[in-house]
Amino acid sequence: MKIRKIKLRELKEADIFKEKILNPEKKRRYRPYYKILKNYKREPSLFIGAYDKNRIIGVAFGHIIKNRILLGEMAVLEEYRNKGIGKKILKKIEQNSKKLNKKYIELGALDNAEKFYLKQNYKPIIFVQIYPKNILKNYNHLNYKIIKETNYVDSKRFYIEVKRYDPKLKEKIKKEFKAYDVIYLFRKYL
Ligand SMILES: CC(C)(COP(=O)(O)OP(=O)(O)OC[C@H]1O[C@@H](n2cnc3c(N)ncnc32)[C@H](O)[C@@H]1OP(=O)(O)O)[C@@H](O)C(=O)NCCC(=O)NCCS
Repeated sequence: MKIRKIKLRELKEADIFKEKILNPEKKRRYRPYYKILKNYKREPSLFIGAYDKNRIIGVAFGHIIKNRILLGEMAVLEEYRNKGIGKKILKKIEQNSKKLNKKYIELGALDNAEKFYLKQNYKPIIFVQIYPKNILKNYNHLNYKIIKETNYVDSKRFYIEVKRYDPKLKEKIKKEFKAYDVIYLFRKYL
């Protein structure tokens, strides 16, 4: 098994591989291939694959956003999970991100992968998205530490500090904020 940079000629296959795992019913709106290719051309060292005799068994795709690396996609083939492969791929992304002098790595986690990132020492932040029609006048009474707030035409977004990981907190915040989506973001400073 080898952990290495994905070659340009292997990128399409790697993209299909991660779609099969992360988006089997083609329900979600994942980054389309032309964007993946654009990100790859800008910084190929953030596209890492795990290969077992040239067969792809794991991937992670990262890209640069100013002073951070956004880890957009990460997946290991089911029969190869819990063997330390995900951990090794992530380490490689961290090393290469550090070489690029970036400050931190960030990602939005799928529910069932949250504990994986906690184990790799990533720190949780809650990310809340609210439709304009559900925006409240004031959020102070909810007593959360809002680190950052952004306003888009189609949504308002909050980043909330959390002291420790609590799997039930997302549902609670979803109700309190009348949010349409609440996820854990994970961050690791390099
Ligand atoms: C999440 C994923 C990439 C982890 O890859 P992996 O190769 O199985 O992870 P590793 O074997 O390196 O695991 C490292 C540690 O995390 C733990 N771990 C891995 N996945 C976990 C999970 N889903 N929940 C809890 N712990 C997990 C392992 O038990 C291991 O613990 P240890 O160090 O105490 O032995 C893989 O499970 C996967 O592809 N899942 C489906 C797609 C997905 O959720 N991708 C993430 C999108 S954000």
